[in-house]
Amino acid sequence: MNNNLKNHWENIYKNKNEDEVSWSQQIPSSSIKLIKSTGINNPKIIDVGSGRSKLLKSLIDIGYNNLTYLDISETALKKSKEFLGDKSNKVKWIAEDILNFKTEEKFDIWHDRAVFHFLTEQNLIEKYVDLVSRNISNDGYLILGTFSENGPLKCSGLNVSRYSKKLIQETFIKNFDLKYMFHIDHITPFNTTQNFLFSLFKKY
Ligand SMILES: C[S@@+](CC[C@H](N)C(=O)[O-])C[C@H]1O[C@@H](n2cnc3c(N)ncnc32)[C@H](O)[C@@H]1O
Repeated sequence: MNNNLKNHWENIYKNKNEDEVSWSQQIPSSSIKLIKSTGINNPKIIDVGSGRSKLLKSLIDIGYNNLTYLDISETALKKSKEFLGDKSNKVKWIAEDILNFKTEEKFDIWHDRAVFHFLTEQNLIEKYVDLVSRNISNDGYLILGTFSENGPLKCSGLNVSRYSKKLIQETFIKNFDLKYMFHIDHITPFNTTQNFLFSLFKKY
């Protein structure tokens, strides 16, 4: 576990409310749209770096119940569990640095909004690519929301990698087929704009 990184995120989730962080969104529409577009019946989904996202709640409300939450921050996990209340038993909860995540499980859908782009070192990017390639089932999907080439240089005080359509495709090309991709402006709670690139990849 990278303790500096863990402490960074624990501090954020201990000290800031949900509407005091730039990535907060009321309805994760782009993610829901892409998950539905896979057409898989009750897929096994992991939301990596889920933070306090409302995605899992939205998915439970639609009827999905094969869900896994993962985040480096135990505080974010605890607050998300509280938020879900009785519905929290529909989710498997994991507090872990994604780069240390070891599992034999295969997911039909791996969802990551605004987490992968925090990896800025090539060896860590490759480690992540290797991890998703191993832990997504055959014909499963990877959904990634990263900052685009016009997005911010930093998030939460940390450097990020920004992705063009070409770069994100090249990064995952070895094991994934690009199915769909779009840009979308996220309006932060402070009324600023962050340009995201959302990609839907299918595993070969
Ligand atoms: C910008 S927030 C996005 C949260 C959420 N995905 C959303 O869309 O609202 C980044 C999240 O990734 C988590 N995170 C950052 N690095 C991580 C890592 N190496 N492993 C697991 N989670 C990580 C943070 O704790 C934080 O919750």
